[in-house]
Amino acid sequence: MRAIITGASSGIGAALAHELARRGWTLGLLARRADLLDALVRELPAKSVALPCDVTDAAAVREAVKRGEEALGGPFDLAVANAGVSVPSHAAKFKLADAELMTRVNILGMFHLFDAVIPSMIERRSGRFAGIASIAGLRGLPTSSVYSATKAAMQAFLEASRVELRPYGVGVTTVNPGFVITPMTEKNRFKMPFLMTAEEAARIIADGLERGARVVEFPLPTSLLMRMARFLPDAVWDRATGGYSKRKVDSEKAKR
Ligand SMILES: NC(=O)c1ccc[n+]([C@@H]2O[C@H](COP(=O)([O-])OP(=O)(O)OC[C@H]3O[C@@H](n4cnc5c(N)ncnc54)[C@H](OP(=O)(O)O)[C@@H]3O)[C@@H](O)[C@H]2O)c1
Repeated sequence: MRAIITGASSGIGAALAHELARRGWTLGLLARRADLLDALVRELPAKSVALPCDVTDAAAVREAVKRGEEALGGPFDLAVANAGVSVPSHAAKFKLADAELMTRVNILGMFHLFDAVIPSMIERRSGRFAGIASIAGLRGLPTSSVYSATKAAMQAFLEASRVELRPYGVGVTTVNPGFVITPMTEKNRFKMPFLMTAEEAARIIADGLERGARVVEFPLPTSLLMRMARFLPDAVWDRATGGYSKRKVDSEKAKR
């Protein structure tokens, strides 16, 4: 079985590559940093190919998918849209460039992978597309307004696509992690509840993908808290999250 993972050069993507390789998947590894992808190819216990590429470039993603399929000997059975960026944002200091970056990588990047793999999955009447969204997409989180918005967009798209693609034999999985230790969360200077390792996250995600889950959401306490928070009246939500606006991040690391 062949899988392609975007954002495979670090964090959750790299850990998922290790986990799927251990389970016998061959892998197409897509991200911009070719040196990290090459190193990963050398480490993995299964056949894999580095596909250096920027997910914001639709033609480049299509080309990378083609190269991956040729190198691995057939079309991808699983595609994981994992590449993502998170830059803290505040409505009072709104930065359009940051908002554009998150929109282009998190949402358009997912669409570009979708565009590149879905026609072949429909034709073969098999395959699975997964998007790594976030628990942060379940409600608008102060200091993460744009990031939350991109993850909510991913969730809405994946949910509707899941229903639409079912008759074609193609599965869709939404993955909503809580806080995971990766370069993305390194910048956070606030306490991250129920923080877990990328390896743990990768195991949970791989289990969910292999059993064909519709939604994989973890860890359970964060998931339950946010699911309950969705029912909070708006006035209560505003009071409960007011303090979040002052959350601290290390701005040096915020845009890497
Ligand atoms: N860590 C968490 O707590 C957490 C929680 C919920 C959801 N998530 C989501 O999980 C996913 C992975 O995040 P992470 O925590 O593992 O962060 P990470 O370690 O910073 O990894 C982000 C990955 O995205 C890739 N990427 C960024 N921009 C790209 C572009 N334009 N083209 C291609 N690849 C690009 C990066 O590779 P290059 O720089 O080499 O291109 C890197 O491999 C993201 O979608 C994130 O939103 C993370």
